[in-house]
Amino acid sequence: MISESSTSNCGALVLFGATGDLARRMLWPSLYALDHDGLLSPEFRLIGAAHSAHTDEEFIARVKEAVLKSANGKIFNDETFDRFAKRIRYVSVDALAPDGLMPLEQVIGKKGDRKSGVIYYLSTAPKLFGPICRALGQSGLAGRSCRVVVEKPIGTDVVTARETNAAIASAFDETQVYRIDHYLGKEAVQNLLALRFGNSIFEPLWNANNIEHVQITVAETVGVEGRWAYYDGVGALRDMVQSHVLQLLCLLAMEPPAGFTPSAVRNEKVKVLWSLRPIDETNVAANTVTGQYSAGFSGSVSAPGYREEEGANTVSDTETFVALRVEIDNWRWAGVPFYLRTGKRMQKRLSEIVVQFKAAPYNIFADVGATLTSNRLHIQLQPDEMITLTLMHKQPGLHGMKLSEVGLDLSLGSAFATGRRRIAYERMILDVLQGNSALFVRGDEVEAAWQWIDGIVKGWRTTGQKPKLYGAGSWGPSAAIGLPERHGHTWHE
Ligand code: BG6
Repeated sequence: MISESSTSNCGALVLFGATGDLARRMLWPSLYALDHDGLLSPEFRLIGAAHSAHTDEEFIARVKEAVLKSANGKIFNDETFDRFAKRIRYVSVDALAPDGLMPLEQVIGKKGDRKSGVIYYLSTAPKLFGPICRALGQSGLAGRSCRVVVEKPIGTDVVTARETNAAIASAFDETQVYRIDHYLGKEAVQNLLALRFGNSIFEPLWNANNIEHVQITVAETVGVEGRWAYYDGVGALRDMVQSHVLQLLCLLAMEPPAGFTPSAVRNEKVKVLWSLRPIDETNVAANTVTGQYSAGFSGSVSAPGYREEEGANTVSDTETFVALRVEIDNWRWAGVPFYLRTGKRMQKRLSEIVVQFKAAPYNIFADVGATLTSNRLHIQLQPDEMITLTLMHKQPGLHGMKLSEVGLDLSLGSAFATGRRRIAYERMILDVLQGNSALFVRGDEVEAAWQWIDGIVKGWRTTGQKPKLYGAGSWGPSAAIGLPERHGHTWHE
């Protein structure tokens, strides 16, 4: 197998949006953790770049505060932070203009003079990805040994996604581009690949002959949390399904890749996206349910409805919940429904996958009164990682063949001393440093996902489908329960 990992080393990471929310909550704490674990080379430099003016000292003080406040504050120590701080510089830039980037050149050096590549991490508003990449290209700062990191959403539909990808491509070759979907950095999500392709027992069963249906739930208890301006008009389908939920679907449904290389993995994922049966105005009502949370509870605390959130528009029709019945038109999955649902202000924070196997062909215990429940593989991704396979067992004792379902626990926790829980970004940044893009999203994948999502959005518009209200703290609108029930299936609760 040919390795596609880039072997060129990068000597610096430039973080645009260095003072922003994501940088503060996730990125600086993750970089600190990598240094703490000895994973940054001694000469590796970190350059914070943003519009505002700060001295290096002021900026480093902010970084320190961010690390201390984060989950990685637990591993803070002065000695490591001093070493970490020595790597950091701050540069005030106007990243939209080639000239405005010149202060950066003074810190990282001219392209021709540099001994190693530079990673440009764009932790900025997504609409700036294209303009910043163009400016990096025009300023001559983006050479062949550089990498660029961007994060979802790439565009808001297939047209804008193509425009963004084209602007990125004006300065960087696809092999230099790392599009983050932070779900692909989660331990439990990466473990899905190990479960499917590191074991031989599931593969013979992983198809329409043996699987009745599959469910993916990504439920959040939080509301829009002050992100109204971003979220409104975007909604659950575009915010969560286009990226995270479809990525989970791809990992579950893809064919075994030829190897764990960027092309092999991503070729198989994109084939799943191409095989999704279109949902449009002809079938959108039968296959989708949308909802919007009204006032209710978050745990035991009362919570406002979506239209009452701070800064809200009181007539908004944005969906904060969506449930879908999806079919994959290929040999492996023909006829197997995949039920997907995601929502905000749901009863529990829970991300899980349920693979429901078909019923045993015949119940030999029927005459002695035993009923059989079909086997189920239950993969919980959040809040705890847990894998359970349900099997029928005889109840011990002398009361005959009484059977009941028992879960065989395949959980990570009991198998490994897992140590500190890592932030997904630690794994993703390390992959960028090592030049391995297998778990990043390729440009054509983003566009294929948008193409399918756009059909649903258009279907809703054409048919005038509006979200149904559900109380905050519930499992979504009651119509969502009917979606699988019409086909003889029920959501796993
Ligand atoms: C983000 C979405 O991509 O993922 C948010 O924009 C959502 O709306 C978040 O809350 C969920 O991520 P996690 O890791 O908390 O499940």
